[in-house]
Amino acid sequence: MTQHKVGYFVGSLSSQSINRTLSKSLVRLAPSSMHLTEIPIGDLPLYNRDLDDSYPAPALALKDAIAGVDAVLFVTPEYNRSIPGALKNAIDWASRPWGQNSLARKPTATIGASPGAIGTAVGQQHLKSILAFCNSPLMNAIEAYIQFKPGLFTDEGEVTDPSTEQFLREYLEEFNQFIARVLQVLPPDED
Ligand code: FNR
Repeated sequence: MTQHKVGYFVGSLSSQSINRTLSKSLVRLAPSSMHLTEIPIGDLPLYNRDLDDSYPAPALALKDAIAGVDAVLFVTPEYNRSIPGALKNAIDWASRPWGQNSLARKPTATIGASPGAIGTAVGQQHLKSILAFCNSPLMNAIEAYIQFKPGLFTDEGEVTDPSTEQFLREYLEEFNQFIARVLQVLPPDED
């Protein structure tokens, strides 16, 4: 099977982030035909369109990283029933300059963890709306709203509950198949 390169964003900057822990488990559980690498967002300055003609190095690195992968996975907390500002900031940088939107035609999927019962569902709906505007082919299902209970994951990202582990494997497999379908009709530009 074709190897898919997937870049993932972690929407939290916290050193204690449960979403970073979730991302570690996704790296562990990804099928062998999917290679996951992080696209860091923590060093980005705040987006300012005055810099559209002279993107700062972290923003250029972000756009290069997105260009270098087949698809992007967003692993994010919900902040105030939306997405964290740091993640929105990264998407704003990625979407510009006008006409050079790095997310256009790039397959994406969202997942997130929260201690709350609805596990980032509302935040992910906002994120899906943003990605739709960015013209990203977005995986609608499987939806993944993870309620982060103490002990469900080890700090290294091992999943202690077999049904959660199975669910995450199925989620990643579905995303892998979704990427293959999108790339069939929207092959990446060859430079
Ligand atoms: C939160 N939290 C939160 N949780 C939730 O389920 N819905 C929400 O709207 C919010 N809002 C919110 C705002 C802000 C500013 C913070 C700091 C937190 C709680 C949140 O889910 C919890 O802190 C998670 O641990 C955050 O994810 P990371 O940073 O651990 O990955």
